[in-house]
Amino acid sequence: MGYKVAVVGATGNVGREMLQTLAERDFPADEVVALASERSVGREVSYGEKTILKVQSLADYDFTGTDLALFSPGSKVSAEFAPKAAAKGCIVIDNTSQFRMDPDVPLIVPEVNPEAAAGYTKRNIIANPNCSTIQMLVALKPLHDAFGIERVVVSTYQSVSGAGKDGMDELFNQTRAVYVNDPLEPKQFTKQIAFNVIPHIDVFMDDGSTKEEWKMMVETKKILDPKIKVTATCVRVPVFIGHAEAINIQFSKEVSAKEARDILREAPGVSVIDHRANEGYVTPEESAGEDAVYVSRIREDATIDNGLNIWVVSDNLRKGAALNTVQIAELLDRDYLKKAIAAE
Ligand SMILES: NC(=O)c1ccc[n+]([C@@H]2O[C@H](COP(=O)([O-])OP(=O)(O)OC[C@H]3O[C@@H](n4cnc5c(N)ncnc54)[C@H](OP(=O)(O)O)[C@@H]3O)[C@@H](O)[C@H]2O)c1
Repeated sequence: MGYKVAVVGATGNVGREMLQTLAERDFPADEVVALASERSVGREVSYGEKTILKVQSLADYDFTGTDLALFSPGSKVSAEFAPKAAAKGCIVIDNTSQFRMDPDVPLIVPEVNPEAAAGYTKRNIIANPNCSTIQMLVALKPLHDAFGIERVVVSTYQSVSGAGKDGMDELFNQTRAVYVNDPLEPKQFTKQIAFNVIPHIDVFMDDGSTKEEWKMMVETKKILDPKIKVTATCVRVPVFIGHAEAINIQFSKEVSAKEARDILREAPGVSVIDHRANEGYVTPEESAGEDAVYVSRIREDATIDNGLNIWVVSDNLRKGAALNTVQIAELLDRDYLKKAIAAE
């Protein structure tokens, strides 16, 4: 017997990708329900190649009897509806930042800390980390196990799809406006994004960091190791899909580029493309629609002890959001829920 699964935010960038990923990976669902706001009731969304689902209203939906709900409707909506769904016995996997730092909510990257998922029973909620954190930690975990990471300096190059479907529309419309000489008015982003880069994602914090930068720091500590120091600069770039990160790492043990490359080649979820040639590295555009976290440009940093530089690229809507969420659902199915059914 399969699960009844609700996808909340099913008309959005992440929600549509979640439906696609559930179908592609043959998640054992008997029934899938698509939920969004009142605005979208009756709209149709695809679940795999053959099935069309009619969108229902989240506000009117009764979660009784729904086993799993994959949420991506924005933080405020998750804050209200995820606990309501959880109270009806539905396990929520939430993509928003709402519950990530709640000590009673596991924050999971399946390749990094699958064992922490056991804590889901406290609130019936599991959080999916920030897209930039996920791809960074898939690459850092095997290196941390081998050489012990002390400090990370990361600069991100984040695509507009990280700001939802309205962010993608804004890049498209502004690009067109530049060509036809129409006026530009930034709405989703703080400045013009077409033909520009913006070092400002989410709100400013008291210390001058942005909240996106803060998330990379605190989420790394919660998921991988509280002792790791992280400093980040997060930048929005005019790319539709795929985030890139330039990561400088300082280890406690000596490291060579060759050792790091060999370890990363064996690491789950990682694909190493690293040749010192024109085609020998991966760019965001090439990562779109792919599941892997790509690591390129692996090289020693001679300016610090035990230093390494890497370039990490992944599809922010796949591994950064939908795929990681579905992998968490698969983890629950494999390690907890099947067991629960067997024990009944
Ligand atoms: N994009 C990424 O790379 C990424 C990665 C990780 C996490 N996230 C997080 O995931 C969330 C969604 O991101 P997105 O990129 O999918 O945004 P999006 O494209 O703007 O989609 C938002 C979705 O939420 C739904 N929604 C909005 N208000 C609602 C309400 N009151 N009740 C029910 N549904 C409502 C929308 O439905 P309507 O169409 O009916 O308005 C839509 O389906 C955000 O919190 C984001 O931070 C995004």
